[in-house]
Amino acid sequence: MYCARAGQGTHGPGHRDTIGAVSLAIRAARTADLPAIYDLLELAFPEASRALFVKQTEADSTFRLRHGRVAVIDDRVCGYVRIFARRMLVRGVPVPAGGIGSVATQPDVRGEGVASMLLRDAIEQMRREGMAVSFLFTGIAPLYERQGDRVVREPQVTANAAEAAAAASASLYDVRPAGDADVPRLLALYRAATAGTTGAVVRTRRTWRDAAQSLGEADGDAFVAARHGRTVAYIRTRCRSYGHQVLELEHLRGHEGAVMPLVAAAGRIARAHGEPLVALVPDGHQLAIALLAIPSTTVTTDVRFPMMMRVLSLEALCGALLPWLSTRAAGHPGPAFRLKLNAPGESAVLDVRARSVARRGNGAAADAELDAAATLDALLGQRLPGARCRPRADAGLRKRLDALFPETPLHFWNSDRI
Ligand SMILES: CC(C)(COP(=O)(O)OP(=O)(O)OC[C@H]1O[C@@H](n2cnc3c(N)ncnc32)[C@H](O)[C@@H]1OP(=O)(O)O)[C@@H](O)C(=O)NCCC(=O)NCCS
Repeated sequence: MYCARAGQGTHGPGHRDTIGAVSLAIRAARTADLPAIYDLLELAFPEASRALFVKQTEADSTFRLRHGRVAVIDDRVCGYVRIFARRMLVRGVPVPAGGIGSVATQPDVRGEGVASMLLRDAIEQMRREGMAVSFLFTGIAPLYERQGDRVVREPQVTANAAEAAAAASASLYDVRPAGDADVPRLLALYRAATAGTTGAVVRTRRTWRDAAQSLGEADGDAFVAARHGRTVAYIRTRCRSYGHQVLELEHLRGHEGAVMPLVAAAGRIARAHGEPLVALVPDGHQLAIALLAIPSTTVTTDVRFPMMMRVLSLEALCGALLPWLSTRAAGHPGPAFRLKLNAPGESAVLDVRARSVARRGNGAAADAELDAAATLDALLGQRLPGARCRPRADAGLRKRLDALFPETPLHFWNSDRI
């Protein structure tokens, strides 16, 4: 329906398209657009408050006007997509990542491809900024699947509040409410606990405090656990319509015993509200273990708004991961082979040697190939790639491939959700 003609926006390239005789421009937001953007978001997301969108924009120190992508028809903002510039750990390596959120189209122009065009424009903008991966949360996966995004799942756990509250009667740890002065220590605990993971968002004191503005955490909803006066673990929670939500929990290695008292503290709040305790938890995380020890706990990965991810730049992602892959190859020596990886619109060939990994020219012949879904899984560590490579590899090669790209559960907390 639209015929795209390249145009020039105020902040980097934009697009000028037409719908019938009407002109549609896709460009970076301008300060003067912000009230109209908030109006649109308020209309498109009636369950969220306007204040949330204002805070997510104006209290987020990472926001730049070029991260707000607007579709304009006759000077009216008719669509919006927001890019959240983050750094995300992929197998412990920080890579530039773009979160996609606040996707909205005015009701009278829906179904005309506006959101799809804005998403394509956002992908171009994220690539221009050197971002390697993108992530989002949605209840409309097909809209994003056709742009190359893929659902990645974390288990959602629901625990009975009274049982959780009673879960730790005696403990070696002192639990008290967390305050702003705890942020530097909590940040250090978070960094130590997320080292080597996939999916954790890299934070600073500033971004920690930025997020606190829009998360809606109330005073008394976060706790720290201390042993001999030293803070070794924390939990952050907030009230949701469907339960009291654990935003995140981290602990210092060796202090797994601090987890249950923190869960119990959160359970007491949930019990007072008459709500279950709910949490999105990395598989195998100590919080999952603690919640699963509560008898009536249920787990599902079939969540209403799952996370989706995609590779934005295979070149950037492979470049960032090469040292890690080489270390991995050295630790798991074996037969050399060439592996072709695929992402939307891009491919790369890895030269896996006995004890290292290097990049090859993209035209190089390969012994095995992973399609885009298997490539994303392999790089993030979502599923072992060996069984999915083509042509079907022999057992030795499959074993080495799986050793090179081991499974790593996603370690993403709701506090970084956008
Ligand atoms: C979702 C939304 C942004 C789509 O905008 P749009 O400009 O109409 O999108 P497009 O025309 O590019 O594509 C729409 C596609 O998404 C599908 N879609 C839109 N809303 C959907 C829904 N609630 N459930 C399932 N599919 C949906 C359409 O069927 C269409 O698919 P098709 O082209 O195969 O028919 C718009 O409906 C909106 O603002 N909704 C309210 C806010 C919202 O839910 N945002 C998304 C949050 S992840």
